Amino acid sequence: MATSTPPPGEPRPLALVTGASSGIGFELARKLAEIGFDVVVTSSDRGKLTQAANAIQSEHGDARVEIVQADLTRTEDVQKLYGTVQSLGRSVDILAANAGVGVWGDFAEGTSLDAELALLDLNVVSQVHLIKLFARDMASRGSGDILITSSIAGILPGPLMAVYAASKAFLRSFGQAIRQELADRNVNVTVLMPGPTETDFFDRAEMQASKVAQGAKQDPEEVAEAALRALADGSDHVVTGLKNKIQASLAKKMMSDPTRARIHGSMTKPQ
Ligand SMILES: NC(=O)c1ccc[n+]([C@@H]2O[C@H](COP(=O)([O-])OP(=O)(O)OC[C@H]3O[C@@H](n4cnc5c(N)ncnc54)[C@H](OP(=O)(O)O)[C@@H]3O)[C@@H](O)[C@H]2O)c1
Repeated sequence: MATSTPPPGEPRPLALVTGASSGIGFELARKLAEIGFDVVVTSSDRGKLTQAANAIQSEHGDARVEIVQADLTRTEDVQKLYGTVQSLGRSVDILAANAGVGVWGDFAEGTSLDAELALLDLNVVSQVHLIKLFARDMASRGSGDILITSSIAGILPGPLMAVYAASKAFLRSFGQAIRQELADRNVNVTVLMPGPTETDFFDRAEMQASKVAQGAKQDPEEVAEAALRALADGSDHVVTGLKNKIQASLAKKMMSDPTRARIHGSMTKPQ
């Protein structure tokens, strides 16, 4: 992964960041522009996306910042995003497959099935679809980096966030698997596993009453920096933040699934 501004006259590498209108995705796009990338930023809300792109452009005037509005719960929008990026006539050096949402509440009697199915469309189906399209191009070219935003929830089953945590476990497993497949074609895959991070995630999931939403959170800029360091190092995954690293390491080494679920449940329960 290129991590410094290319010399004058050399083309800048290109990164595509999904979920770039706010939070972790915005910070990823901002940092990528800072270290010498042109960026394509995408999300479903054109207004928020335009604001985010303008902020990146005014901070990093050398970077080319392209906007593609796409609702990634829709198959046709995933395809449209790929087509629009193709039409730039440039290869994508980094795909940050980051867009995702949560749904909070009691699975049997609280949450909406429609919301959970839309979550799966965004967090799982669109990720497989988009990564398939770009991984194919990267594999045939013999270069590229893919960053997949999973979560520490990918190792902690999540009572009151059952579908969300399972979607992140899917991404963790999927990312580790395609990483091995793609290694011989010089394509790196890194799984990003943040813990609670100060973004719009909690409001969007309507989980402000939960203990985790009211607790300490990491800065999304720090999460993005850790993610890009891990990508540059070719790491298989990164858990961001010391507390989350300790929790993830203990969970993996010493805890049964029911214990992991109990610990996560103690965070997602109402305060
Ligand atoms: N915050 C945390 O504590 C935390 C912890 C671990 C993992 N994560 C993961 O980090 C990723 C980014 O979340 P965040 O925390 O940065 O929250 P966020 O600020 O709410 O960002 C979510 C992003 O996804 C986009 N998005 C939502 N629905 C979409 C759709 N249908 N189509 C396309 N884009 C859509 C949003 O943009 P629009 O509204 O413009 O569409 C936004 O840019 C997610 O995958 C999340 O699961 C977050």
